[in-house]
Amino acid sequence: MPAARLTLDPAFAIGPIRRKIFGGFVEHLGRHVYDGIYEPGHPAADAEGFRQDVIELVKELGVDTIRYPGGNFVSGFRWEDSVGPREHRPRRLDLAWHSTETNEVGLHEFSSWLEKVGSDLMMAVNLGTRGTLEALDLLEYSNIRSGTALSERRIANGRAEPFDVRMWCLGNEMDGPWQLGHRSADDYGKIASRTAKGMRQLDPEIQLVVCGSSSAHMPTFGEWERVVLTHTYDDVDLISCHAYYEERGGDLGSFLASAVDMDGFIETVVATADHVGAVRGSSKRIDISFDEWNVWYIDRFHGVDKITGIDNWPIAPRLLEDIYSVADAVVFGNLMISLLKHADRVASASLAQLVNVIAPIMTEPGGIAWRQSTFYPFSITSRLARGEALRLKLDAPTYVTEAYGEVPLVDAVATHDAETGRSAVFLVNRSTTEAIEVTVDVSALGEVGVLEAHTLSDEDVYAKNTLEDPERVAPRANDSAVLAGGVLTISLPPVSWSAIALG
Ligand code: AHR
Repeated sequence: MPAARLTLDPAFAIGPIRRKIFGGFVEHLGRHVYDGIYEPGHPAADAEGFRQDVIELVKELGVDTIRYPGGNFVSGFRWEDSVGPREHRPRRLDLAWHSTETNEVGLHEFSSWLEKVGSDLMMAVNLGTRGTLEALDLLEYSNIRSGTALSERRIANGRAEPFDVRMWCLGNEMDGPWQLGHRSADDYGKIASRTAKGMRQLDPEIQLVVCGSSSAHMPTFGEWERVVLTHTYDDVDLISCHAYYEERGGDLGSFLASAVDMDGFIETVVATADHVGAVRGSSKRIDISFDEWNVWYIDRFHGVDKITGIDNWPIAPRLLEDIYSVADAVVFGNLMISLLKHADRVASASLAQLVNVIAPIMTEPGGIAWRQSTFYPFSITSRLARGEALRLKLDAPTYVTEAYGEVPLVDAVATHDAETGRSAVFLVNRSTTEAIEVTVDVSALGEVGVLEAHTLSDEDVYAKNTLEDPERVAPRANDSAVLAGGVLTISLPPVSWSAIALG
């Protein structure tokens, strides 16, 4: 059996784990809001129409801040449509997803749902088809206590207290030609800077996220960040990254190494941001909001799923309803390892998305809600990763991938919470054929034992949870985890993700 060796030492701290890296994303897209979180008439719906079974699963997932309402949707969105008496709210075309938006759920209803799941709101403004004034109006409506036209309108609409939204995204994926109102880096940088300055005049305490690239493979990647940050460096706090991965052409080996791409993406954006800072002689540091990440079979969406036709604008169609396998969950868990490995600069991240749409939680109208395979790496990492992320000394065998060349078969990160004395190690085995024996020198932790050890793997790496068989895939206790004489030993099956808690 191949072997890998790690050394864990709390002295090798990368940075504090900010809870915002366990964020989510709810877009008005497909059956995410309607028939997902909101289904009046469902047996589990509460008085406001929100499914309580979904609320319980979102709580179990352990999601922090939730980005809303898009995504591509936001670039055609008029926020005013979604507030006030429901019977007066207009139905609108959603050009991004070729659907009809009923506006039955808007800012007030979504905020109420957030209170039920215990998460904060991260709001995106429309800088695609709208501009600075509309962004300022939404901020006034959301954050001004009273005494102005828009704050009084919010109060009249039933919300006495401000929504007090702390994090704001300055548009969405403005580098993408598919985006309504897509702009050049120069044009976007200018409007983002003007809008950010205005928003800060209104509320200096908000955190602002400027759009970075929608993937590290965009033709403008790198230059986009440089130009946009040159315009906005003094105005914003974070720059966004978006990345989706899928298995292409049956190349499982490359797919399993997707986190190598995420590592490079983060490090390149950090280098570019620091370069702009250096050129400006600025001591300010711009951090990353990785506000869309996941496995997404996007090629399938472009192939068969697309809705077309001038007379065909369905409400809540089934869109982007990927069903995830064990292999997908292993890649997903590895993406979380990558986020933790960059905890010093990734200050916030949003799993895209939460319910039905490329989501860890699925629902059936009138029926059950269930956990996808990807639910588990998220919920376990969110629960166990506390305190600081630790850099591990890693000595592992390698393999050669078509997409990324030679990469390690094992990837890992650890965390340590000085307050509780608890630590955790998260690992993947990317081998498609062999188990790997891992030894971790944990002597620097002193007297500790194994509290929990979970492994997600399956003889069928394409096994999935479905409506018919919703509990086919789940992590199991890994009884091979043994700690003796300051050394933790664990066997990782092929194509697996594992988490071990120590304390
Ligand atoms: O998450 C699905 C879509 O992916 C989002 O709407 C968009 O921002 C990205 O391209």
